[in-house]
Formats: sequence, C-alpha cells, structure tokens
Amino acid sequence: MNPMIMDRPVDPREGENIRKNEIEEGESFADPDSFRPEDLQKEFSDLIERKFGGRVQVMAVDPSQMLGEDDIDENPQPAEEILESFHYKPKDIKVHLDRFAIGQDEAKRALAIAVCDHYNHLRNQQVKTSGDSHYQKQNVLILGPTGVGKTYLVKLISQLIGVPFVKADATRFSEVGYMGANVDDVIRDLVQAAGGRISLAEQGIVYVDEVDKLASQKSERGRDVSGRGVQFGFLRLLENADVDLNASHDIASQFKTFMSFQRKGKAEKEIVNTKNILFIFSGAFHGLEDVIAHRIDKKSIGIHKPAKDIKRDELLASAEAEDLVQFGFEHEFVGRLPVRVACHNLSEEDLLKILKQSEHSIVKQYVESFALYGVDLKFTEEALRALAQKAHTQKTGARALNAVFETTLRPFKFELPSTSVTSLEVTAELVANPEGYLHHLLNSL
Ligand SMILES: Nc1ncnc2c1ncn2[C@@H]1O[C@H](COP(=O)(O)OP(=O)(O)OP(=O)(O)O)[C@@H](O)[C@H]1O
Ligand SMILES: [Mg+2]
Repeated sequence: MNPMIMDRPVDPREGENIRKNEIEEGESFADPDSFRPEDLQKEFSDLIERKFGGRVQVMAVDPSQMLGEDDIDENPQPAEEILESFHYKPKDIKVHLDRFAIGQDEAKRALAIAVCDHYNHLRNQQVKTSGDSHYQKQNVLILGPTGVGKTYLVKLISQLIGVPFVKADATRFSEVGYMGANVDDVIRDLVQAAGGRISLAEQGIVYVDEVDKLASQKSERGRDVSGRGVQFGFLRLLENADVDLNASHDIASQFKTFMSFQRKGKAEKEIVNTKNILFIFSGAFHGLEDVIAHRIDKKSIGIHKPAKDIKRDELLASAEAEDLVQFGFEHEFVGRLPVRVACHNLSEEDLLKILKQSEHSIVKQYVESFALYGVDLKFTEEALRALAQKAHTQKTGARALNAVFETTLRPFKFELPSTSVTSLEVTAELVANPEGYLHHLLNSL
C-alpha cells in the first residue's frame, strides 16, 4: 500500500496522539532491504502530522491506481521487437486505412510514407552499430476542417504498428508550466500510454491538435506573442530533448520520486528522449486560405486560375512554408514539419460511404446495441442517404453522423425494449419524423 496526501478537516484531538519512532529531519530513510510499505505509511503519517498538524492526512491507496515503475503491462512487447517486426510498405498502411476511413487519399498516402520512412529508419538504426545518416524526421502537419479524419487516421496507424499514441490540444499548453500544462507533459502522457515503458514511449507518436491556435497574430499593438513560446517549447521536443518524467509541478510524480528515494536511498531521474518520437500536428487553419490565395494571385498572374476559383480544400493543400510563417508560425517550427497535407471536407456521398463501407461504421454499433434488447434493426438505402444528408448539413464532418443517429434513434431505443417489437426497419420516412413514426408504431401494437 502506498500512502498519499489528502486534505481533510482538522480534528483537534489528533495533535495529542503519541508518536513513536519519530524520524528527525535530515535522518536517512528506512533501509531499502527491510522496507515495508506499512512502516513507510506510518513514518510518513508521523512526519506529515508533525509538519502540518491535523490538517493533512496520509491515507493508503491502491498502488494499481498510480503509474509507477511497476505499473507495466503483463506481457509487454519489447520496443525492439516492434521495430524488428516493422515491415510495412506505404501501400500496406493505406490499404489498412481504407478499411476504416473514407476518402482523404492524399493524407493517407502522405501519412503512410511518413510513418514508413520513420519506423524503417529507426529499425535500420537499431541494427546498425555505427554511422549516422542525415535523416530528417518526417514530422507531419495536417490541415483541414473538423471531423474529417485527421486524428482518426493517425490513431489507426499507431494501432496498426503497435506504438503508443497520445493526443493533446495545443491550447492546453502555456509558456509557464504552472498556468496550464507544460509542453513536456505530452511526453509524460506518452509514457503513460506506453504503460510506463520508457523505451516504447521513445518510439511513440505524439499528436497535437489545434496547432493553428499557436500562431501569433498581427494586431494593432504589433505581434501578439502568446503561443510563440509554446512553439519554441515544441521545437525542443521535435529535435532531441531529454524530458524528466518527474515534473516539478506534478504532485503525483513528485511523490513517485519520493517513493523511489524511500526504497533506494537515492532519487532516480527518469529521462525520456524525444529524438525518435514522431510528431504530428493538426489544425483547421481558418484564414490561411486567404494568405495562400494572396500569394497565388500575386505570383502567378495569367498562369494559373485566380485563387477565388480554387476551392478552400485545394488552397490549403497548396500551403507552403512561407504561408505558414505569414500566418504566424516561426520559421524554425515550420521547418521541422516537412510533411504537409490537407484533409478535404466530407461530401454527402462520403458520409454515406462511411455508413455503408467503414468497418467502424456507426450502423454496426446501432444494430448491435438494438440486438442486445432483442430488436433486429435494419436500414434501407434511402434511410442511410437521408441520415447522411442530415449529417452533412451540420458541417461537422463525420462527427455529425453520431449526433444524427443519436437524435433519430434515441426515442426508439427508449421505448422499444419495453414492448413486443422485435424488429425495426429504419426508412427515410422514419428519419424525416422519428417521433411521429414512433407514435404511430406504438399505437399499432
Ligand atoms: N474520413 C473518414 N472516414 C470514416 N470515418 C471518419 C472519417 N473522418 C472522421 N471519421 C469519424 O469521425 C470521428 C471524428 O474524426 P476525427 O477525430 O478524425 O476528426 P478530426 O478531423 O481530428 O477533427 P477535429 O479537428 O475536430 O479534431 C472519427 O473517430 C471517425 O469515427
Ligand atoms: Mg482531431
């Protein structure tokens, strides 16, 4: 049992407790060989009580709830094995993605190549004992609207390869660690996603969303620099940084250091190196299309079609480093994201394909959940089209499918399990007026 510190109300009688085995300040902690968790809890209680009176209580918690050095998977696949068995070719990855994600062919290709290059390089490095190539890490920047598969594609790839994956929103970070989170926290989260295995985390994938919010905007008072510091924070990580797992602003990791000190008589530093971690940034980049359009119109008078005739998706796909710098990114930051790719909006047809073809289709989920209530759910082709149509008007990409299914089928999921109904065919008529359809159905029973 590990002790953990919790606040609780003062009980005046507690100060009268007689304490045995008090440890003097500066006295060395228990002999690691004779270490018993109960003793530590007792010692720690006494020390805390002496320091803080009764205001702070030491209580035991289940160690499995804390991430520690013992907090490791039962059957871990060693990081080296994952690399050794990495023999994917870009096309293999694209074929895998096609099973689940619809469209986004260019993004799939770019991601597949970046990931294959990266992990093949790491595998090569592992077998080679000397010599360093001039390999530049294939960090990726994905531009595109909400709900079209940016995060989904990366998650699918990390699952396929078996490397840990962590996602964070750029807006979570601030320049001063204690105000928000520190950029290094994303690396600590990655270690957590790797079940505490540092060597595995060092080959993981970090995905940072909403990176466009880090752009420093020009204002009347000059450049607004919020976000710039975070860009520089990431610059460090993108290269080759050592991140200490024990963050000074994180009480849990401080406590872990303390425990390690207790056990071993010295505080162990746990370091994660970021050199081989693949970073993928993404964002909607509203307004970047204007910057790109301006450049295109200025540079290519008479050569290409005017920017106003190019769709937003296509404009974003032609983003160049200078556009991103103009948008508010630092040269150094943009330079370290050599792979840039745009995801397109999902059309009504794409949404329909997601329902009909994706192996993760929400249709399957609904069929399964109704089956659990003994109701056989079926959808007509027209109903699927009507649902895709409804979702398309919400302009939140494939995310809207969830919302539309939920509002359409919720009343049925509530009522039907308590009736004699054992099958339901979802038709276009039902999608157009779910409440009316249900009312009619219940009356006919
Ligand atoms: N192209 C697609 N094919 C199939 N399903 C998709 C596709 N795009 C999105 N989805 C579904 O929608 C969900 C949300 O997509 P995702 O998280 O990738 O959005 P995003 O592009 O990262 O958006 P945001 O910018 O809001 O984070 C996914 O979990 C997946 O179920
Ligand atoms: Mg996302």
